[in-house]
Amino acid sequence: MHQTALTVFTIAGLLGVVSFLPPAAERFAIPDSVLLAVVGIAIGIATQIPAPYLSGGAVRDIVGTLQHFGLGAQSLLYIFLPALLFEAALHVDTRQLGDEVAPVLLLAVIGVLVCTLVVGFALWPIAPVGILACVVLGAIIATTDPSAVVAIFRDIGAPRRLSTLVQGESLFNDAAAIAIYSLAVAIMTGARPAHPGDGILIFCRQFGGGIAVGFAAGWLVMMVMPALRSSRLAEATLTIGFAYATYIVGDHYLHVSGVVAVAAGALAVSAEGRRRLAPSNFESLVTTWEQLAFWASSLIFLFAAMHTPELLLHARPRDLALLAVVVAAALAARALTLYGLIPVLSWVRLARPIGGDYKLFMLWGGIRGAVSLALALAVTQEPSVPPEVRQFVGVLATGFVLFTLLVTGPTMRPLMRLLRLNQAPPAEIALRERVLGLSLATVRNQVEELARAHEIGAEITEEVVAGYRRRARSPADIAEENAQLPAESRTRTALLVLADREQEYCLEYFEGHTVSRKVAAALLSHVARLRDAARSQGIDGYQEAAARLRRFSPWFRLALALHRRIGVAGPLARELTYRFEVQLAARFILKNLTVFNRDQIGPLFGSGPSNALARQLELRLAEIDRAIAALKLQYPRYAHQLGAQYLARTAARFEEQSYRRLRAESIINQDTYEDLLRALRRRRRRGEARTRLDLGLKRQELVRRVPLFAALDDPTRQAVARLLRPRLAVPDEVIVRRGERGDAMYFISSGAVEVRLGERPVQLGSGDFFGEMALLIADRRTADVVALGYCQLLTLAARDLDRLFGAQPALRDHIRAVAAERSAAAVSQAQ
Ligand code: CMP
Repeated sequence: MHQTALTVFTIAGLLGVVSFLPPAAERFAIPDSVLLAVVGIAIGIATQIPAPYLSGGAVRDIVGTLQHFGLGAQSLLYIFLPALLFEAALHVDTRQLGDEVAPVLLLAVIGVLVCTLVVGFALWPIAPVGILACVVLGAIIATTDPSAVVAIFRDIGAPRRLSTLVQGESLFNDAAAIAIYSLAVAIMTGARPAHPGDGILIFCRQFGGGIAVGFAAGWLVMMVMPALRSSRLAEATLTIGFAYATYIVGDHYLHVSGVVAVAAGALAVSAEGRRRLAPSNFESLVTTWEQLAFWASSLIFLFAAMHTPELLLHARPRDLALLAVVVAAALAARALTLYGLIPVLSWVRLARPIGGDYKLFMLWGGIRGAVSLALALAVTQEPSVPPEVRQFVGVLATGFVLFTLLVTGPTMRPLMRLLRLNQAPPAEIALRERVLGLSLATVRNQVEELARAHEIGAEITEEVVAGYRRRARSPADIAEENAQLPAESRTRTALLVLADREQEYCLEYFEGHTVSRKVAAALLSHVARLRDAARSQGIDGYQEAAARLRRFSPWFRLALALHRRIGVAGPLARELTYRFEVQLAARFILKNLTVFNRDQIGPLFGSGPSNALARQLELRLAEIDRAIAALKLQYPRYAHQLGAQYLARTAARFEEQSYRRLRAESIINQDTYEDLLRALRRRRRRGEARTRLDLGLKRQELVRRVPLFAALDDPTRQAVARLLRPRLAVPDEVIVRRGERGDAMYFISSGAVEVRLGERPVQLGSGDFFGEMALLIADRRTADVVALGYCQLLTLAARDLDRLFGAQPALRDHIRAVAAERSAAAVSQAQ
């Protein structure tokens, strides 16, 4: 047979074998990778059998091909690694990863360094090779494979945060380990200078550069994505090309870490893709990658595991002692990171604490997988590495991977049970059963009705219905059973149900074009936070997370700073527009949730939890109402437009639903249906032109509105206006802070502020001014001044004060008099 045909035949055979492994792994409740390793080793043993002893042409052909398989470890990495990394990154919750950057990078980068060094130095005194070889081994075994752990987390319903930590860690620790590994191998083979300082520099450049290149490339790909006109196949293909090209370009042309670049790029595609692609397209993209990654991880595992018997044949008894040291050192290194470094991060408030039981699970659950095996193989195939090092690294790395797969893997579930991690949400499981029971009651009724309609005998019907009757439950049963659960866990479960419903509403709003993609993404990530908080901290956590919607995002702060420092108002207007859209949509959703709580949660969970939830919803609504009221006060026209836009979008959604119904009932034909939809889409697009918020910061206009300047004639007022700068203050913004040095004073053109003077705050409104005392009397600000709503202010810089006062003596006298009065009031209050 032709060589290519043989290779294809061999791979087809391997894929055939692989396809049976996931179901078998599920059947025996062990991680997929464990089974893959076992099968790989079995195939490896088979390849050791000399050809004449093999029977059958096909088997002999396959084994013969495997014996001389041309793909080296480096090629394996090139072919399979981008797929593995890209797919892993697609599954990471990028929003949450953003919140957990510090612990993830610590676990990934510092954790890998710690593992590399601890393993390296623990082995060095007893190893037959130099320190560099020990370090290479340390780097190889530092890469964790998250799939088994994440699968277990998913089963037990662990908080998403933990999955994010584990996934994020493994994504970047692959990258960090490969970067360290390549560097150490290069130094060992004399390709790079052996200076440790250089090493650190190169690592930083490789890692940092990889992130920058990856993000830039990912962002670029998302920019060109719209040109593909929503073709699913084209979109998936573009991302595949992107992943591989980024890997090669990063590695070979830009000399940054290709692995890091692919991981960072995939994160960018994942974050942007979720927002920009149609949800069904994104789903199909993920499915494509899942398929690719499944092939990649299975084949890389088989290929790498196949070489294990050959490697282990060269093992000596002493290697067993060395392996014991590696295992102990790797565990110690992981313990050092988890118990020594993570608490420091929590202590400096860069990360939320991680529970002790989860830490223990992460310590033991650090399974190593295909990447470690492939790297070990790469060392054994590197001709410039001395033979004793090849042998040392090959045997020990493979031995360690096998240890984690064969000892750690199967013991993870028992450990989980021992730590009682699987008992975390008993109330949730109970609830699931009950809701299922309720729907089964409906099924039972339907079956009975069907049997009656078709005149099926009572006996046969009873046979079918009996099973349903046992499992079915009535709403009254459920309410009664739920009443027996402790109140706290009932409320917690009810909160989770509420969060799920909220998520559904967000998705409905998005799919029905009621809210934009960006707004939907913000709402969805808010719900995800609520859900996580409710799960881990109950109602208090929920309340705390709910308050986050009010907080200003970093982008908002940046826009505000731009406006304040250089007077650019565009980004601020955009951020405000977006903020109001989010709040308005959240308000509609909250209204729906209130009804859902009353009608659905109340009967299922009882009045206690339902009332507690109602209180939370009220608090959230009150908060949003306050924000919207503030908006209406300053920008009534815009608030009105926003409401109208929302109504129009909802109307369009209803219209689309009704067309769909008419089509489904064949009242209109396909052509008419499509015509109607096209027209609707056109109208939608026209309506999409966003209602822009005009901040109304025209200088002349604002100056005219301040009574102090109103009496001035036009040319004088214009001259005065040139000294003043418009500024918008947002609700609760601290405009002036007590004790700071004063650099400007402010005139209120519209809005209100509060001067926080001890127990008796003073409110100032349109036409008033503040901030003059630090310029005229004291050197420092005498009080906090906080915006009560949106305020349009005019700022006069301290350096322009004399110019204004010189030109306007009357104004000067007035301001001085007011300042003296305020100062006197302060003195008398102090007495
Ligand atoms: P300054 O001290 O620069 O910053 C705080 C400002 O609060 C102060 O200037 C005044 O403009 C204002 N302020 C202080 N005391 C009073 C007061 N009694 N009544 C009104 N405004 C005041």
